[in-house]
Amino acid sequence: MTTYFMDDQFTEREGITISVDDRGYYFGDGIYEVIKVYDGELYTAKEHIERLFQSASKVKMTIPYTEGQLMEVARELIARNGISVGHIYLQVTRGSSPRTHQFPAPAVAPVVMAYAVNNPRPVAAIADGVAVKSVEDIRWLRCDIKSLNLLGNVLAKQEAYEANCVEALLHRDGAVTEGSSSNLFGIKNGVIYTHPATNLILNGITRRVVLGLCQDLGIQLEEQSFTFEEAFEMDELFLTSTTAEVTPIISVDGRKVGPGTPGAVTRKLQEAFALQIPTSIVGE
Ligand code: PDD
Repeated sequence: MTTYFMDDQFTEREGITISVDDRGYYFGDGIYEVIKVYDGELYTAKEHIERLFQSASKVKMTIPYTEGQLMEVARELIARNGISVGHIYLQVTRGSSPRTHQFPAPAVAPVVMAYAVNNPRPVAAIADGVAVKSVEDIRWLRCDIKSLNLLGNVLAKQEAYEANCVEALLHRDGAVTEGSSSNLFGIKNGVIYTHPATNLILNGITRRVVLGLCQDLGIQLEEQSFTFEEAFEMDELFLTSTTAEVTPIISVDGRKVGPGTPGAVTRKLQEAFALQIPTSIVGE
């Protein structure tokens, strides 16, 4: 039995009902977060919950809980479900109301749902690297919002999967933006490049951790985008996300990145990242 958080209470998954009038269902009118759990402990949860509130504010939604209360919900889900290594999924929709594009008036109660799941670290991908496929970035212009509207991301990921790749390398107007569910980084002559945190990407929490690690390690990092053509010339490429951590990219569209094996700078960042998480699960 899996315990979820729904309708202001902890409840078994099987007993949950969702309204057909939920605006998340009609319009993708909601926001979400994915928070990593290591060794039964939340990782960078404050940053994720803060970003959830920022997303809510950007789409003019109110969350009927405080940051502290959501943190407590996440901890309780870990405890009740016995999560060791996994993640919390947390989403808020604008609520349930007969279908109209404009917001319901008067406002209805937002629907808050959360669950916790065991999910091992992708150790093979982290060790060996992954292949990506370039896909045109056709998403809307507010990718900074962690919205439930993910059709552009879903189509990009599917295109990558159909080409036996695990992620899409998205590019818009010639510039590499991010992955379908990750941030992208390129390394040339020891300098790391990544798209600036504008409206065209999600400012990933793992991205921010990596920015901090670069500073600690004295690695030069430029928040500057690189072009689709430059991606093929990079010495190294890697992606980051809550679940993927720091994953090397070893090929783009079937062309090798560098020698086609994870590079030295990526390895250095992976080692530094591993020091941030409980040692008992590193190398699990
Ligand atoms: N995805 N960019 C996009 C479009 C994302 O969906 C994600 C995360 C990231 C990385 O953000 P973070 O480091 O905060 O996880 C970047 C999550 C994991 C998901 O949708 O499952």
